[in-house]
Amino acid sequence: MALEIRFLGHSGFVFGDGRHAVVIDPFLTGNPVAKTKPEEVKCDAVVLTHGHEDHVGDAWAIARRNKATVYACHEITLMEEGSGVETIGMNPGGRVNTAWGWVAFTQAFHSSSHSGRYMGNPCGVVLNLGGKTVYHCGDTGIFGDMKLLGEIYRPDVACVPIGDRYTMGPELATRAAEMIGAKVAIPIHYKTFPVLAQDASGFCPKGIEVKELVPGESWRLG
Ligand code: NI
Ligand code: MN
Repeated sequence: MALEIRFLGHSGFVFGDGRHAVVIDPFLTGNPVAKTKPEEVKCDAVVLTHGHEDHVGDAWAIARRNKATVYACHEITLMEEGSGVETIGMNPGGRVNTAWGWVAFTQAFHSSSHSGRYMGNPCGVVLNLGGKTVYHCGDTGIFGDMKLLGEIYRPDVACVPIGDRYTMGPELATRAAEMIGAKVAIPIHYKTFPVLAQDASGFCPKGIEVKELVPGESWRLG
């Protein structure tokens, strides 16, 4: 099986196996680098790493239009309680089997709020789809258990924030990607805004292929 990986810009992705599609952190409206309109996104599920506006983005509108299930930290799911959108509330350590594979939540060292409201734990997400496993770190600082998460989930691909200031910068992200040990690392959460790192040149984990994607670009993992 194969996995189609489409980068939406910032931390957003659409992962597809040809039959199902899963969106993570679809921040499109107000995203200066996004090339995709929320109406163009087709998916079965939306997964959110945390509550910040540059991650929740257009998630609820996309979920509503696609009748997609939203997987997010419990507190985030309460945002739309009673609105008719199907939600699955989760927290770090939890894994849920789905029609297309499974989704697990990990810890992330960050914060999580939306419009000033507490949104529970910030998380990383591990996704299994199309016979492949992706570890999307969310927004996070470095932590030693990234090595353990790599051993547990054996991800094929890691999506690692490198933009600095709110997350790891390129140097720490390099060490993080080496700890996770996925063969391929995709840099995320950079270049979107002037305060973030503007290129991925300092992200150079040893023995790992760095796959830099531009917003709107797709890449197929065979
Ligand atoms: Ni954040
Ligand atoms: Mn962010």
